[in-house]
Amino acid sequence: MAELSRRDFMKAAVYFIGGLVGVSVGLPSIAYLIDPALDGATKEAWIPIGKLADMTEINRPYPFSFTRVQVNGWERTATSHGGFVIRKSEDPNDLLIINSRCTHLACTVNWVEDERVFACPCHDASFDAQGAVLDGPPPRPLDRYAEFRVSEAGVLEIFYKEG
Ligand code: FES
Repeated sequence: MAELSRRDFMKAAVYFIGGLVGVSVGLPSIAYLIDPALDGATKEAWIPIGKLADMTEINRPYPFSFTRVQVNGWERTATSHGGFVIRKSEDPNDLLIINSRCTHLACTVNWVEDERVFACPCHDASFDAQGAVLDGPPPRPLDRYAEFRVSEAGVLEIFYKEG
């Protein structure tokens, strides 16, 4: 009887130690595998778009572009973004920063200096220099990057938020 109890005890001890080893190896492995799916840290950021000293002319749209990498689980997707910076006065904080993505179906608009409009090549839409719809199917004005700042080095940065 005592020998049987000792055997049961040994079995239980082996299972317990085996379980501990399994948990200590298994949990970090599972955490490593599911971590990308839980990672949402890259959804917003300050993006440097150029030196303000290089954007001297008032009412002239200065184009900029940048790329963001979106992480969705284990899938990484690079997306291009862009826009135009317009100085409205000598005041360095008096800026209009327009998103170049058309509000109809997301084509990229271009600045046409002769007509002073933003033109969308996809469905012949046009927007005025403030981004208001002049012609075509877009349901609303061009979006704006409302939050921006100038670093100590004079670099203009916009606040990007995914979605
Ligand atoms: S995507 Fe610009 S007008 Fe359709």
